[in-house]
Order: sequence, then structure tokens, then C-alpha cells
Amino acid sequence: MAILAGGRSSEHEISLASARSVLEALDPESYDVVTVAIARDGKWELGSGSGSSAAETLPVPAANAPATLGAVDVVLPILHGPFGEDGTVQGLLELADVAYVGAGVAASALCMDKDLFKKVLRDSGIMVARHVALRDGDEVANPFGFPVFVKPARLGSSVGITKAHDERELADAVRLAFRHDEKILIEEFLDGTEVEVGVLGNRAPVASIPGQIVPLGHEWYDYASKYEEGGMKLVIPPEHLSEQTLADVQRIAVEAFVVTECEGMARVDCFVLGDGTVVVNELNTIPGFTSTSVYAKLFEATGVRYSELLDRLIDLAVERRDRRSRLAY
Ligand SMILES: Nc1ncnc2c1ncn2[C@@H]1O[C@H](COP(=O)(O)OP(=O)(O)OP(=O)(O)O)[C@@H](O)[C@H]1O
Ligand SMILES: [Mg+2]
Repeated sequence: MAILAGGRSSEHEISLASARSVLEALDPESYDVVTVAIARDGKWELGSGSGSSAAETLPVPAANAPATLGAVDVVLPILHGPFGEDGTVQGLLELADVAYVGAGVAASALCMDKDLFKKVLRDSGIMVARHVALRDGDEVANPFGFPVFVKPARLGSSVGITKAHDERELADAVRLAFRHDEKILIEEFLDGTEVEVGVLGNRAPVASIPGQIVPLGHEWYDYASKYEEGGMKLVIPPEHLSEQTLADVQRIAVEAFVVTECEGMARVDCFVLGDGTVVVNELNTIPGFTSTSVYAKLFEATGVRYSELLDRLIDLAVERRDRRSRLAY
């Protein structure tokens, strides 16, 4: 099997950390692993590992990198953000006719795009924040008052996101978001408990126990809060939420996973409002994946160890591939 790590997005380093964790946890008796490091400039390079013979369907665009991979039967794309989590790499893997972990092309592209994602969820009767999408050059309109969230449509790790408190901050926020994407969102502020839940499976997905995100020393769950030591606290299960509300979070997370046609894994980020209403913020098809990432911790609390999680994901990838290989096109 092959692990794809790094990639062109600003989450490159996070992806490398996730890949290192995965490598450590995979049983060397069961898996023959090669790592493909994708550089910030997009070049693919075959890292150390064993078994490099031939799988010429995987293009390796680096001039001096080996043009073939080993006899790869499963690919684990541990790539966050654009050019990895957004359906592009998944398309390549479909063309290569190889099993791969996680959401397929359409689900990856849909969940990467916070604007399209919200539209599909609304259509399915799942609550999401109200938002407007702007294209570069559009007049800035904020119908929601302040504070308001401004986001690039397709990124992650809170990169390019601002909580704007007034008109001046809004103008700066819009400029910043447009540095990262041609499309941005202005989104109503939701005052609630931030809760994340893991989902695992293909046809019969299951939810983990939800966990509460508590930013420490940060107003919201921004980049620094996510990655600085002590920047956040994960509380599993969330405090002050009823059993009923937690069951709602799990049910709605699975619904979001199903209506967006996800497979394998996802981390669903939600807000629980004061009256117990669950609002889905976003769905990450390749969530941070170190052994201490939120996704792993949520499943650990649910009774699925990290290495077992990996085994299950690999089985799910193979199951999908086998299922689909029987289709006539
Ligand atoms: N509408 C909102 N109301 C209140 N807080 C929000 C809202 N949207 C985002 N936030 C805050 O900003 C954080 C980042 O937002 P979001 O999850 O949409 O971005 P992301 O960059 O895709 O994150 P991830 O790292 O999970 O991929 C949230 O975890 C939350 O703390
Ligand atoms: Mg998020």
C-alpha cells in the first residue's frame, strides 16, 4: 500500500505529521508500505519503503522521481485541503483503478466547498448556518450583522478565516479570504457549543462519541488554537449536553455523511445552540489524522484504537473497490 503525504496546500506540514503517525501505527507484518511525499510545488517523490515494482497507472510528475510505484493495492491519501482532500487526487486514483481510503471524487469535492456543502445539507433538511457566497469582484454584502465569519470556500485549519466584529474588519477579512480562494463565504455567527464527531463506514456508517472543542486563550478555534500546545481542550463527551442532544449530534452527523455520499471516514463539525438545536458547520473528509488528532481521540473514546481504525479504513477502501469493480460502465 502507499501513503500519499504532504501536498500543495497550506496544510502540508500537518499532513506529514499525520502520515508519520500512520506509518508508526501500521503493522509491518500485515502491510508493505511505501510513502509518496508530495512537495509544496506538487512534485511527487517516492520515499523509503519496500516493494517498488510496477503500477504505471499512477503518474509521478517529478522529473527525477521513479516513474513507477510498487504493486500498490490500497492508497491512503493523507492530504488535507486543495489538491488532496478536494477530489483531485481521488480522481487520479480512480483513473489508476486502485482502492483508496476515504470519500470518492464527488463527495470530496462537495465537502471541500463550504458553499456547495451547505446547499446540499439545506436541501436535505439538515440545519446549517445562513451564508452568502461572494466571487472576486462582487460587492460585499453582509446581511447578518456583527460579529460575522468570513472564510475562503475551500480550505481548512482555519487558514484565511476571520471573525469580523465591524465593517473595517469585514473589509480586511474579505481581502484575506480572497487571497486563498476565488470564492468566499460570509456566514452568520453561531453562538453555541462547538462539538465534533467522527464517522466511520461505507454503507452503514457509525458515529463516534462526540467531543467538545474548548479553545483556550483564543476567542475561537483559529489556527493557533488548533496547533499550539495548550491552545484547546477536547472534552469527551461534551459537558452540559444531554444524552438526547448527543444522540442528535451523532444521528445528524451520520445523516450529513450519507447525504453528501461520503465513504470511509469523516469528521463532522457542529454547533449545538442553547435550545439543543444541532447545526452542522462543516464536514472534513480527510481530518487531521495523527494518533492524537481529534478524529483518533474520538474513536479511541468509543473503543476503536488508532491501529484498528486504520485496519477498518483499509478494509472499507477494498470493499468499495470490489463492489464497484462489478459495475458495467
Ligand atoms: N458561523 C460560525 N459561528 C461561530 N463560529 C464559527 C463559525 N464558523 C466557523 N467558526 C469558528 O471557526 C472555526 C473554523 O471554522 P471551519 O471549521 O469552518 O474552518 P476550517 O478551516 O475548514 O476548519 P478545519 O480545520 O476543521 O478544516 C470553527 O471551528 C469555529 O470555532
Ligand atoms: Mg472545522
